[in-house]
Amino acid sequence: MKGFTDKRIWKFVGGNIMKNILITGGAGFIGSNFVRYMLNKYSCYRIINFDLLTYAGNLDNIKDIMHHPNHVFVHADIRDKNAVKDVFEKYDIDTVVNFAAESHVDRSIVDPDAFLSTNVFGTHVLLNTAMKYWKIEPDNKYCREYKTGVRFLQVSTDEVYGELGPTGKFTESHPLQSNSPYSASKASADLLVRAYHETYGLPVNVTRCSNNYGPYQFPEKLIPLMICNCLSNKELPVYGDGKQVRDWLHVYDHCSAIDTVLHKGVIGEVYNIGGNNEMKNIEIVRLIVTKLNKPASLIKFVKDRPGHDRRYAIDNTKIAKQLGWKPMYTFEQGLEETIDWYLNNREWISNIISGNYLNYYNEMYSEIAASKTE
Ligand code: NAD
Ligand code: TYD
Repeated sequence: MKGFTDKRIWKFVGGNIMKNILITGGAGFIGSNFVRYMLNKYSCYRIINFDLLTYAGNLDNIKDIMHHPNHVFVHADIRDKNAVKDVFEKYDIDTVVNFAAESHVDRSIVDPDAFLSTNVFGTHVLLNTAMKYWKIEPDNKYCREYKTGVRFLQVSTDEVYGELGPTGKFTESHPLQSNSPYSASKASADLLVRAYHETYGLPVNVTRCSNNYGPYQFPEKLIPLMICNCLSNKELPVYGDGKQVRDWLHVYDHCSAIDTVLHKGVIGEVYNIGGNNEMKNIEIVRLIVTKLNKPASLIKFVKDRPGHDRRYAIDNTKIAKQLGWKPMYTFEQGLEETIDWYLNNREWISNIISGNYLNYYNEMYSEIAASKTE
């Protein structure tokens, strides 16, 4: 980002200093993994897990940590100014990690409203509250001094960069060229975060990661959808020719990267996070089919997603060289563990695959639903 004046590196102070970290969206896929990661790693942090519990938020995702002494769950909406303010006041929040979002591209194509509302306006409410609560002189618009050690970390996506051709990778300076309502809403939020830093000096970071996979992912996204469909011998809907490329990142590696940025990231900077693992969708679907011993005939090529980005790939150099982070998982190990997790958590799957989910599935994959009735 241009013109950053505050280049402090916040040194981690361990031991007896209690930090109060507001994690929004902490009952969703990545958020719940991150809450667990932080509770396991740090005994001196209190996690305030703030989640609206939309269709994607699930208390089953945090069942094992719900009563952890350093975990507080708050059922509320990031768009609700009073609820956000109450939490800042009650828990003396000094760090925000904003995962809360509408996160599924297909849903954004059908109904973008909630994406704009939560992803853009919700982020604005969080930024504005953090600014007022953390500023040394909250009523002085020229004041750029903040309480020591505060930080706002916005969890974003590589999708804000748009699509790549067959070669090259996204660096942090790649232009924002979002193609879906989802990615446009995330890019808008990124720009708001930047604006709060440039205009008000708010200490921020933005992380942009590639496609995540791992335990607790809602089965509307590629990998869990294919695993769950295989387990119930349903067809596997592959969009278009299936040769779109994504750069897969295990959710645990994403958590360790966010932890690294929280503790070592230079204020005001954007960091890309990727798994160095480009794969075509069809290759992944075939791997899942093979690992679960299912017939390839389950694979069904369906009409392509409108505006479907062909390829994403992340250049990790900045976070690797400047902050010393690297992913630990190979895709083979990560996929194996993920498949095992879904095999061992059938109850979690059946609790999620409710009436609402089935309605969504039938609408989204009408081609498959129709072919069943022919
Ligand atoms: P998810 O859909 O699984 O979870 C989102 C969570 O946010 C849910 O728990 C939901 O209840 C909560 N939420 C939604 N609206 C809310 C609101 N108004 N107030 C409070 N809580 C609300 O999403 P995810 O896959 O865990 O993604 C988390 C973040 O990471 C998102 O910001 C997403 O854009 C970003 N991201 C995800 C991926 C990925 O592959 N999943 C990749 C890059 C970036
Ligand atoms: P998805 O998991 O929805 O993530 P994103 O759209 O954010 O990358 O999709 C990953 C890739 O898999 C994407 O290229 C779309 C494709 N895909 C299918 O082919 N079939 C499906 O049923 C889904 C959900 C995704």
